[in-house]
Amino acid sequence: MSRHIVVLAGDGIGPEVTAAAVEVLHALDVRLHLGLSFAAHAFGGAAIDAYADPFPDHVLSACRKADAILLGAVGGPQWANVATAIRPEAGLLRLRSELGLYANIRPLQVHPALIDASPLKAERIRDVDLIVVRELTGGIYFGTRTRSETRATDECAYTVAEVERVTRTAATLARSRRGKLTSVDKANVLETSRLWREVVTRVVGDEFPELKLEHLLVDAMAMYLVSRPGDFDVIVTENLFGDVLTDECAAVSGSLGLMPSASVGDVGPGVYEPIHGSAPDIAGRGVANPYGAILSAAMLLRQSLQVPAAALALEAAVHRAITDRILTRDLGGTASTAEATAAVIARLSVAATTIPVA
Ligand code: NAD
Ligand code: IPM
Ligand code: MN
Repeated sequence: MSRHIVVLAGDGIGPEVTAAAVEVLHALDVRLHLGLSFAAHAFGGAAIDAYADPFPDHVLSACRKADAILLGAVGGPQWANVATAIRPEAGLLRLRSELGLYANIRPLQVHPALIDASPLKAERIRDVDLIVVRELTGGIYFGTRTRSETRATDECAYTVAEVERVTRTAATLARSRRGKLTSVDKANVLETSRLWREVVTRVVGDEFPELKLEHLLVDAMAMYLVSRPGDFDVIVTENLFGDVLTDECAAVSGSLGLMPSASVGDVGPGVYEPIHGSAPDIAGRGVANPYGAILSAAMLLRQSLQVPAAALALEAAVHRAITDRILTRDLGGTASTAEATAAVIARLSVAATTIPVA
């Protein structure tokens, strides 16, 4: 069986962390014969430089034909002044929209060896295990924008169908976990949030009555994520709130460099990327934390390629590398990106021999 992965490394540390993830996937493939093949394409700022377009048509066609897409990060100061419609970030939004990736799944767990790396007190974070399901193809990210000399607008719109489908994704996840779903909105102010709350309440009531559903306002949620993060199981929220809250989640885990994500729709390939950006401040120095990208590759193996044993082996290897304190600087360690990657691969061989070959 052959499984084709398109690699969109992007900009800044994107190429450094995706190279790490590809190296680890190669190592797994050698042991488990997953039949992986890879093709790299320019994306984001790199594609602007090469093709004057952050997401050229030939890259979109390659993505459509892939089994899964591994992405680094896009953007950087070099492209800060290009027109909004062709910024690196616009390419990323188009990728999500063209592939119908409406659900962005961002899990947060706190590794026991990293309790001290978190800014929060140990007793608050010991049992944190939550997943944010961020709506990814609607809301203010995709509304009409206007700009004059003296005024700018960004429209925020949601349809009932858009809220229904992401609610089902989140509720299905909650059903397979601890059965608690927290929906986050700003229903005391925004009409889109009132619609959001109504739809979530109806879908969960009709289709997932066994779940415990709560609604929280986003400002309070920002506080609860640092005061009682252990109380949450699955959180579902709209695009912009999900973007902001998940960087906060990453800080709880100890570093933005740790958190993976999967962006999925109903059909076609998913996109797997760490939630961090291109980190221009550390790019090119070989010090970026590759664990978020590597854990995104594990999500790719589980969700798009459906090889859960391989995903588990990879997650176990990262877990062990962290337990053994092979940590990059963002986590207070001294390991380079290459050393952290090698540490995962070294632990992978042990893990992989103990699991059944897929
Ligand atoms: P950022 O996430 O790139 O960096 C924020 C801070 O976290 C920086 O200090 C950075 O050094 C650190 N950091 C991030 N990832 C790290 C890693 N793997 N290892 C160690 N440290 C890490 O956010 P920013 O600086 O606000 O944005 C920079 C650019 O990235 C912008 O152009 C933004 O649009 C883009 N961005 C892209 C994506 C994406 O492509 N998915 C996501 C977020 C931001
Ligand atoms: C993310 C990023 C993107 C977003 C940007 C780069 C468009 O911050 O993936 O979290 O806001 O969705
Ligand atoms: Mn973000």
